[in-house]
Amino acid sequence: MKALIASGGRGTRLRPITHTRNKHLIPIANKPILHYAVEAAAAAGITEIGIVINADSDEVPVAMGDGSRWGVTITYIPQLTPGGLSQVVALAEDFIKKDKFIFYLGDNMVVGGVKRFIDEFEKSDSNCYLTLAKVKDPERFGVPEIRDGRIVAVEEKPSKPRSSFAVAGIYLYDHHIFEAVKAITPSARGELEISDAHQYLIDKGYTVGYTEITGWWKDTGKPNDLLEANRLVLDNITSSIQGDVDARSAVAGKVIIEKGARVINSVVRGPAIIGEGCVIEDSYIGPFSSIGNNTTVRKSEIEYSIILRDCKILDIGIRLEGSILGNDVEIVEATGKPKVHRFLIGDQSRVEVV
Ligand code: G1P
Repeated sequence: MKALIASGGRGTRLRPITHTRNKHLIPIANKPILHYAVEAAAAAGITEIGIVINADSDEVPVAMGDGSRWGVTITYIPQLTPGGLSQVVALAEDFIKKDKFIFYLGDNMVVGGVKRFIDEFEKSDSNCYLTLAKVKDPERFGVPEIRDGRIVAVEEKPSKPRSSFAVAGIYLYDHHIFEAVKAITPSARGELEISDAHQYLIDKGYTVGYTEITGWWKDTGKPNDLLEANRLVLDNITSSIQGDVDARSAVAGKVIIEKGARVINSVVRGPAIIGEGCVIEDSYIGPFSSIGNNTTVRKSEIEYSIILRDCKILDIGIRLEGSILGNDVEIVEATGKPKVHRFLIGDQSRVEVV
């Protein structure tokens, strides 16, 4: 059993954060999303992992390395232009050979790992085994039609979904998937859809099994999904205070304060994580907040937010909530007259003011 992880694409729905960073490297609880996929594969006993990357960037290989820190070997497979998930699978044929494999979309997150899915797939006689999750908005996903306990059709982003399930981005295959991804043609949006490959397998009489994901699963394609994934991961952290918390501060609930971080005259209410070298002074850090390394928060309040590294949030009179800030972002008090809001913001940013 091998693992194939997709980390390409442009992450357009997560701009501006993805202007300067691959979406799979956005941190959730201060750890790149992609780490969770590799950790899940390693925890399931997989040692050979292929990661499909954008050919024009070495960002993912630089961030992930050769896999030795997880006890696995990572092979990078370049994709010249994004052409759909079936193209991603096709590119990996030389790496996978005749092995069975788990195909994991690097922006998907699932609690409880993937070992259960692998075990079930290996015990079943399926050529393809899909993981399904109940969702409120199936039209955003691949959607199965299920009759008498069998998947009879799979449709990509249907306007009239035939079930309330999404096909999650964790798929299990044998080598017949390569026949499927080579046989299909691009969809109306110009992509080789993974759902069309599944439909091909069904049409050809191959066995397409499925299981339901009963815990939480998230596709982190949109900003709100990132905040939700961050909330769910923080909910499961174990407290660890390695930084300094002074006597005037109060830390409650599950909180990680990493080494070199200083909390001064502040309230931190978990679950929350404060990265290495941060300074939190005269401030409030509320539930479901992740603060990246070397960020300074002074006389400010933050809740349910993801703040990346090297930010400065200083003396602002409002509470940041439901916010995502990239690296090196400054939000500071405007001084002088007239009293104004002053913005210096890159392309495709969004600011809400009261
Ligand atoms: C992709 C797949 C879709 C699947 C989803 C899961 O969609 O095409 O079938 O349900 O991942 O995350 P995308 O995120 O590329 O829109």
